[in-house]
Amino acid sequence: MAAPGPGGQIEMNWKEELFCKAEIIDQALDRFLPPLSAYPQVVHEAMRYSIFAGGKRLRGAFVLSAAGMLGTDENRVLPAAAALEMIHTYSLIHDDLPAMDDDDYRRSKPTCHRVFGEAVAILAGDALLTKAFETLCLLYEEGFAANDVLQVTREIAAAAGSNGMIGGQVVDLDSEGIEITGDILEYIHSHKTGALFTAAVRSGALLAGAEDEELHVLSEYAAAFGLAFQITDDLLDLTGDEKKLGKKTGRDLAKKKATYPGLLGKEQAGQLAADQVKKCIMSLTSFGPKADFLRGAANYILSRES
Ligand code: IPE
Ligand code: IPE
Ligand code: MG
Ligand code: MG
Ligand code: MG
Repeated sequence: MAAPGPGGQIEMNWKEELFCKAEIIDQALDRFLPPLSAYPQVVHEAMRYSIFAGGKRLRGAFVLSAAGMLGTDENRVLPAAAALEMIHTYSLIHDDLPAMDDDDYRRSKPTCHRVFGEAVAILAGDALLTKAFETLCLLYEEGFAANDVLQVTREIAAAAGSNGMIGGQVVDLDSEGIEITGDILEYIHSHKTGALFTAAVRSGALLAGAEDEELHVLSEYAAAFGLAFQITDDLLDLTGDEKKLGKKTGRDLAKKKATYPGLLGKEQAGQLAADQVKKCIMSLTSFGPKADFLRGAANYILSRES
């Protein structure tokens, strides 16, 4: 096998770093979530089934990385990283329900409702969402100032709510089977996907005492990242490998979803994703090598297979 070129080597290192961060986040999730044996067992089984099914942990890794690059011990922000991953997993459990995208596979396993039934899946999602806010309160015990914990909690709540991720999901569902404008499509992507990525980098940075300018730059990075990430999600739904993706492909066409490949064609959608990745890289210039993890994440989007 040929040795990886310089780009390949950088990507390998980035993947290894993501893997390390994911492991630490998984251990934290295991500590923060109720044990399997806790009564009523079925809801705790369902929560753990979905959260430990093998997500990439990108949002949690963004919290750790943003805090770390600004000089704060990544372990101290684990409650925020775990909370973001709980909210993300809840959004996926609900996204897969028959009333929403009606999907049977997620993270290479049958979806939560296929295993536990719809009622328990809804409640497991609700429980992960509420557990996330209980977990955020643990930041105070890590020694962060109460007003910083409050601001992070407020930003994460807003990003998850009807002006954030849920707003995007509502318009996503509302736009099935109809022609929509580019503005609406951008609203869907920036809200259903971009909002949680933005909350993730901003939370890590806020807890690390970031300056306004640093927060501004990181918000620009995350907005571009979220858009590029969802465009490639839509492209992978058309051309990806189900095994690697861990979810069924062709679902967006089946549900007549509003997507960038649908609006612009595959090639132009790919170009738009590449433009956003360039924007991500440009936005990080002032951070220098400290931002290499975030740079690696942006570069990974264009070659990702899962
Ligand atoms: C899937 O997100 C949902 C989208 C916003 C496209 P990820 O691709 O980050 O999902 P996991 O957490 O790795 O399963
Ligand atoms: C999901 O977008 C975004 C969420 C907020 C869950 P999709 O519906 O395209 O995500 P997948 O393809 O099911 O992972
Ligand atoms: Mg969806
Ligand atoms: Mg979906
Ligand atoms: Mg999708």
